Amino acid sequence: MNFIELSNGVKMPRIGFGVYQIKKNECERCVSDALEIGYRLIDTAQAYYNEEEVGLAVKKSGIKREDIFITSKIWISNEGYEKARRSIDESLRRLNLDYIDLLLIHQPFGDYYGTYRAMEEAYKNDKLRAIGVSNFYPDRLIDICKFVDIKPMVNQIETHVFNQQKESHEIMNRYNIVHESWGPFAEGRKNFFDNKILMDIGKKYNKTVGQVALRFLFENDIVVIPKSVHKDRMQENFDIFDFELEKDDLEIIKNMDERESAFFSHYDSQMVEWLTSV
Ligand SMILES: NC(=O)c1ccc[n+]([C@@H]2O[C@H](COP(=O)([O-])OP(=O)(O)OC[C@H]3O[C@@H](n4cnc5c(N)ncnc54)[C@H](OP(=O)(O)O)[C@@H]3O)[C@@H](O)[C@H]2O)c1
Repeated sequence: MNFIELSNGVKMPRIGFGVYQIKKNECERCVSDALEIGYRLIDTAQAYYNEEEVGLAVKKSGIKREDIFITSKIWISNEGYEKARRSIDESLRRLNLDYIDLLLIHQPFGDYYGTYRAMEEAYKNDKLRAIGVSNFYPDRLIDICKFVDIKPMVNQIETHVFNQQKESHEIMNRYNIVHESWGPFAEGRKNFFDNKILMDIGKKYNKTVGQVALRFLFENDIVVIPKSVHKDRMQENFDIFDFELEKDDLEIIKNMDERESAFFSHYDSQMVEWLTSV
């Protein structure tokens, strides 16, 4: 397993398995499959409603707890110190764990400073091994770094070949924050898996579009957490460590950056109204 070191010395796998949009009745099987293949990082969230199933698969796997890295996220409805504090204990209970490896603030809305204080406290009490944020773009990220005791160790943001987040990446480097990608395939949008450029590059290395896309992020020091409910695809997405993209190919993919979300902007007022009312 390939690891990246967080600012507090904790080692985080550089590839993981995401369980967003995996239904409760399928999640345990998917996580078991992923663990069997060799994934050791599982990315869930309170808002995915499948923490329990993740916990069940982890318990049943028989893999030593210290060899698995579990990420979860606090949703906006649990924002603020008191609610966040309770919700951390609820996540621990649902996951059936004594500690969570990485807990993130899911969205930069509401009293997320209160949420963060509850996370700092849980971190100091050994309930969390690392803390961080998600969907924090440069302005929010710098702001939180300036006004908290323990700086976020990870920022998970939409990142894929069409939205490479170079500015965010530089700022994360400056603050010693690991960049983690969500939606490494843009969830298949923009005809992702039929992309001719990635397909042609893949042919050179005998690799698929998905593998080239993940390898590109990996080579740019970005942690990836692809999701699939199909075991063969989980295996495919995991097999990215036996090739290296040549400089020219890295350059071609760099030029695919459209510098724009394939989903929505966190600065779109209608989106903010919707997200904060979910
Ligand atoms: N922090 C946040 O706000 C946030 C937001 C979104 C996601 N995330 C996290 O990031 C993880 C990954 O992102 P995502 O799930 O949104 O999208 P994604 O990983 O970019 O794409 C998943 C989609 O690609 C398909 N797929 C996967 N591997 C494939 C392959 N090798 N060939 C063809 N199709 C393939 C999947 O279909 P099948 O399942 O049918 O194979 C699914 O439709 C999530 O699961 C979640 O943990 C976080």
